[in-house]
Amino acid sequence: MKTIVFLALSVALFFPGSSNGQSCRGRCGYGTDSSYSCQCNPACERYGDCCSDYAVECKASTSCQGRCGEQYNNQNECHCNSLCPQYNNCCSDYSSLCDGSSGGSSGGSTTITDAEIKTVSEKLYSLDYNKASSSQLTINSQTLVSDSQTSSQKDLSSQPLFTYVNENVLFSKPTYAAFLAVLDNYNRMTGQTENFSSQQLSEQDKFLTETMSNTQVGRELFSFLQSKGVYSTESDFIYDLKMMWFGLYSRYNGKQDSSGFEHIFAGEIKSGKVSGFHNWIQFYLLEKSGQLNYYSHSFNGPWTSYPDVLGMQFMWDGYFKQVGSAIIGCSPEFDFALYSLCYITRPGKLCRLSIGGQALSIQTYTWNNSSYGNGKKYIASAYPATP
Ligand SMILES: *[C@@H]1O[C@H](CO)[C@@H](O)[C@H](O)[C@H]1NC(C)=O
Ligand SMILES: *[C@@H]1O[C@H](CO)[C@@H](O)[C@H](O)[C@H]1NC(C)=O
Ligand SMILES: *[C@@H]1O[C@H](CO)[C@@H](O)[C@H](O)[C@H]1NC(C)=O
Repeated sequence: MKTIVFLALSVALFFPGSSNGQSCRGRCGYGTDSSYSCQCNPACERYGDCCSDYAVECKASTSCQGRCGEQYNNQNECHCNSLCPQYNNCCSDYSSLCDGSSGGSSGGSTTITDAEIKTVSEKLYSLDYNKASSSQLTINSQTLVSDSQTSSQKDLSSQPLFTYVNENVLFSKPTYAAFLAVLDNYNRMTGQTENFSSQQLSEQDKFLTETMSNTQVGRELFSFLQSKGVYSTESDFIYDLKMMWFGLYSRYNGKQDSSGFEHIFAGEIKSGKVSGFHNWIQFYLLEKSGQLNYYSHSFNGPWTSYPDVLGMQFMWDGYFKQVGSAIIGCSPEFDFALYSLCYITRPGKLCRLSIGGQALSIQTYTWNNSSYGNGKKYIASAYPATP
């Protein structure tokens, strides 16, 4: 994809007044961006290319906005964890923003009930017009194994999982095309720095626009979160998604080698194993190209049409995944929206959804080692929890 103009436009939209590249305003924690002359992530401290206002914009924070319950960090001027009242070092807005909340990425004192989350997940399900129909996708799940057999590393399925995918129809839809453009921008090995060209960065923006602004699934998620006071404007919502999903952090050796998007949608290799990898389209593409061998499944959801949920055992080019769960046959905007909903409303917890009248739980994890904005946490992982 080749859209330099789009990048220039989107940069201007996301960072009004700072497109000369000199300010960290709105850029804290985001991955190295070569279209700027200075950077705003922790790596800039090592490379010596931080913007002049990096410390002010990104490090010193005197508010608990977005920081409730964060881990103690002596770099901060004041604190927002449950021990700060005892140590008398809370930020002045701690009691109004954090008291009584469990903390998490959205901060604030918004209460969102399980029943409300279930209702909105049913709505997202009913609005997923871009999902695969039974004539567009055929899977062959073959051998079902018990939980105790998931570690056996045996190929118990002679056929591929995906028998047929109508790529012409599905992959030409704008959200699938935007998703595919981002999916191949990653190096799967942890410990190897991710670098993005300006074109690849613009693909991230395009993916967010196509999935979250241009679909009913995305608009429903935003209006729900807005009604709960989590975001006041659509651009706050898109910007926060961009940071939590695409902002880089380090899983190994101090390198900016990972992000929530890479981990969950593209998959990574860490300590000789597959880590993350919870998307059906990535699974299909790698299986089709001969790089992935489906072994068995240990979970098959109760759904009789797409999307369905499977927990799969597979080998990815020499690396094993014991249970890679994924929502099968949904659109890219659907699993992105569900994972975002759960991460934003139930960070680090089990999030209970209702999908077509059936229960589905999504487990998310926060990344605790680095942060963006005023101490907000990146997504470490999110996936369907298979009982
Ligand atoms: C990525 O960036 C790192 C650090 O700046 C550099 O050492 C490496 O060569 C780059 N890799 C690619 C593929 O450009
Ligand atoms: C997290 O940060 C600590 C302290 O900076 C470091 O020792 C540790 O290796 C980091 N963990 C990961 C997974 O990067
Ligand atoms: C982050 O911290 C929470 C609370 O201590 C913990 O439960 C969670 O597992 C941590 N996340 C990761 C990715 O380790």
